[in-house]
Amino acid sequence: MPVKTIIEPFRIKSVEPLHWTTRQERQGLLESAHYNLFLLRADDVLIDLLTDSGTGAMSTAQWAAVMQGDESYAGSRSFDRFRESIQDICGYTHVIPTHQGRAAERILFGITCKTGDVVPNNTHFDTTRANVEFVGAEAVDLVIPEGRQPASMHPFKGNMDVAALESLIERVGREHIPLVMLTVTNNSGGGQPVSMENVGQVSAVCKRHRIPLYFDACRFAENAWFIKLREPGYSSRTPKTIAQEMFRLGDGCTMSAKKDGMANIGGFLCTNDDLLAQQEKDLLILTEGYPTYGGLAGRDLEAIAVGIQEALEEDYLRYRIASTAYLGTHVASKGVPIVQPPGGHAIYLDARAFLPHVPAEQFPGIALACELYLEGGVRSVEIGSLMFGAAAQMDLVRLAIPRRVYTQSHIDYVVEVILDVWANRENIRGMRINYQAPFLRHFTAHLEPVGTELAYRLPVPPGPAGI
Ligand SMILES: Cc1ncc(COP(=O)(O)O)c(C=O)c1O
Repeated sequence: MPVKTIIEPFRIKSVEPLHWTTRQERQGLLESAHYNLFLLRADDVLIDLLTDSGTGAMSTAQWAAVMQGDESYAGSRSFDRFRESIQDICGYTHVIPTHQGRAAERILFGITCKTGDVVPNNTHFDTTRANVEFVGAEAVDLVIPEGRQPASMHPFKGNMDVAALESLIERVGREHIPLVMLTVTNNSGGGQPVSMENVGQVSAVCKRHRIPLYFDACRFAENAWFIKLREPGYSSRTPKTIAQEMFRLGDGCTMSAKKDGMANIGGFLCTNDDLLAQQEKDLLILTEGYPTYGGLAGRDLEAIAVGIQEALEEDYLRYRIASTAYLGTHVASKGVPIVQPPGGHAIYLDARAFLPHVPAEQFPGIALACELYLEGGVRSVEIGSLMFGAAAQMDLVRLAIPRRVYTQSHIDYVVEVILDVWANRENIRGMRINYQAPFLRHFTAHLEPVGTELAYRLPVPPGPAGI
C-alpha cells in the first residue's frame, strides 16, 4: 500500500536548538533590521528559508569522510576521491575545484567570453548573469513562455525555447556565442526542471553550430528526479543514470556544491576541452588555489565526494521533492497564489497576486516576506522589484528548503504561518526605500512601511541618502 505520510529518510543524531521570539520582539527586530530580512541575526529567526545554499545537514558518512581529509597542498588523495566521485556522475575529463559556484562561473566566463559576446541560458541565476556581464558579454534568457507565467502548469517550465535559440544564433552569429548554458533546475524561474528531450534538442542545435553546451548543475539531482517522475520512458531509471545521460549531452558544467553537493561550501568547474582546462587551471592558481584543492580544504573535498552521491539516492529525492510539494499544495489548496507546479528546492509565493492592493513600486514581495517573519519568525527572500528593479517581471517570495534540516512538522508550521498571513492580507501595507546601495541593493537596503496606518506602527529612522 502506498504510504501517504512523508517521513524523513534519516534519524537525527545531533540537534541544534531553535530560538523563539514573541510577535512584539519580532516587531522591534524588524524595525532594527530596517525591514530587510538579510539584516536580521539568524538567531532571531525560527525557521530559516532564506536559501537552500550551504544550509543543509551533512550525513554521518560525510562527517566520517571529513575526518579522512588530506590537507596536502598538492596531490591530495582527497582531491582524487573528489574527482572520481564527480567523474562517476558527470563523465567530464577535467574537474577543477572552486570555493563555490560563482568562482567557477568567473573562471569560465572570464576565459571564454569577451565584449560583444552573447551567452544564452534558460534563465541566468543572478551571479551567473553578473559574471557574464562583468566581462562585457550579454546574458540572454531564453526560457519557454510558460516559464514566465506563475500559474501555468507545464511539467518542464525550465525548458529552453529552442526556436528562440536558433534565431539568436542566426542573428548574432555562432562566433559571438562562446557557449550555451542550461540551468538545472531553473532557480530564478521558480526551481522548475528541464526535460531530457529539451536538453537533447538544445544539445543538437549546439552541435550543429559547434557551440559548447554547459550546465549550471547546482540542482542536477533534483532535476533528474523530476525527469524520472514526469518524462515518458524514465520512470524505471535511477536518478544517477538519468543525470549521467544528461551530462553526456553537454561539454562541461559549473557547480555550486552547496546545493546538490550536500556540502556547506564548495563548487567545481568541468570541461572536456584540454586547452580550456589548462587556461582555467592557470587562472585558478592565480585566484583560488592549486588545482588539487581550488580554495577548499581537503575535508571539504571529502564531504562533497560523498554528498554528491547521496543527493542521487532515491529515498532522499522522493522525500525532498514530496516535502517541497506538500508545502506548495497545502497553501495553494487554500487559494494562496504560488508559482505552479511546486519547484524542487523552494516554493515561490506570487506576491503581486497575494497583495493586489500593493503596487510593484511598493515592493509587495518585501511586504509579504516581512509579514511572514512578523507572524511566525519565518525568513524568506524577495525575488522581485527590490532585487531586480524595473526589470522585475514578477514579485515572488521564495521559501527555500535547506536539505535534511527541517522536519515535516516544521513544514506544517510554515503552512500555518502562510495561511494566517493570507487571512490577514488586506491589512498588509507596501514598503518604501530609505537607503539603497548602487548595486545588489536588496542585500543592504533600508525600508519602511508606507502610509500612516502602518502595519508595524513605529517609524523607521531614515538611512543614508538613497540613490
Ligand atoms: C542556479 C545557481 N547558479 C549559481 C549559483 C551560485 O552558487 P554559489 O552561491 O555557490 O556561488 C547559485 C546559488 O544559489 C544558483 O542557484
